[in-house]
Amino acid sequence: MTTTSPFVLTISNRKGGTGKTTTSVNIAAEAAQRGLRVLLVDLDTQGHSNLGFGVSVNKGQITAHDVFRNASPLGLLEKAIVPTTFNNLWLAPADHSFDGLDATQELNRLRQEIMQPEIASRFDLIVLDTPPSLDILLMNAMAAANAVLVPVLPHILSSEGVKQLIRLFFRIATSVNSDLKLMGFVPVMLNLRTLLHRDVMDSLAKQYGKERIFRGIRTDISLAEAFGKGQPIQLYDPHSRGAQDYRYLWEEMLDAWSALRQLQSKR
Ligand SMILES: Nc1ncnc2c1ncn2[C@@H]1O[C@H](COP(=O)(O)OP(=O)(O)O)[C@@H](O)[C@H]1O
Ligand SMILES: [Mg+2]
Repeated sequence: MTTTSPFVLTISNRKGGTGKTTTSVNIAAEAAQRGLRVLLVDLDTQGHSNLGFGVSVNKGQITAHDVFRNASPLGLLEKAIVPTTFNNLWLAPADHSFDGLDATQELNRLRQEIMQPEIASRFDLIVLDTPPSLDILLMNAMAAANAVLVPVLPHILSSEGVKQLIRLFFRIATSVNSDLKLMGFVPVMLNLRTLLHRDVMDSLAKQYGKERIFRGIRTDISLAEAFGKGQPIQLYDPHSRGAQDYRYLWEEMLDAWSALRQLQSKR
């Protein structure tokens, strides 16, 4: 990666309700607060990242999903970008009505959009909030990313979603995107006193390496409340456990990823 291209982080898990959107919104806000120029792309048609910033989409407005319509011209991602109330942070909102029927089959559509000079020179970090379903959008996110961050519910039933995601990760990393790295796993809604949580995280550490397990995000109702108010946690309640944990996660990411550290030191 050259220093002029943005770091692209996809936040993915093949299971719903694992904190993907909460992590996307709050990591994007945390990085923006530290001075990085951040774009959050909402690839889930449920549009929860839109909601996380209180952004609504008008009829006819260009969205992140327009990028994926068959035979759509290049340049639509840039046209989809809207500002948020948060400094340094922009959003390419999702389209609730996108049904994928006329979706492109190209794996590199998103990557091509991100490489457009108007995007590549404007942002330091691009965060991709992804749908859990195995569709062309999730594959495009993996094909466009430098790294995948996997929020996991440290519960025994969550292992299948992780396994499916890791299978996809290897498929993409050994074909269209050999630069793709597994950043690691973030346990969310964490209660360290629960033994089962520890078992699940220990088994991930054994399989993928201890260094890939982040400390995680504790259960904190303010994260859900902030979401309801359309605000990142840093704005809604900067002293909450959730805000502290996302701040700490960003610091762990900086420690582990020199590319992110370099981007931040320039700002
Ligand atoms: N650490 C947390 N503590 C409490 N609630 C959380 C936490 N993380 C996420 N939630 C809530 O759990 C639900 C699912 O999270 P979400 O980020 O939308 O998951 P996904 O995008 O993977 O479907 C949301 O209602 C969210 O507010
Ligand atoms: Mg989501």
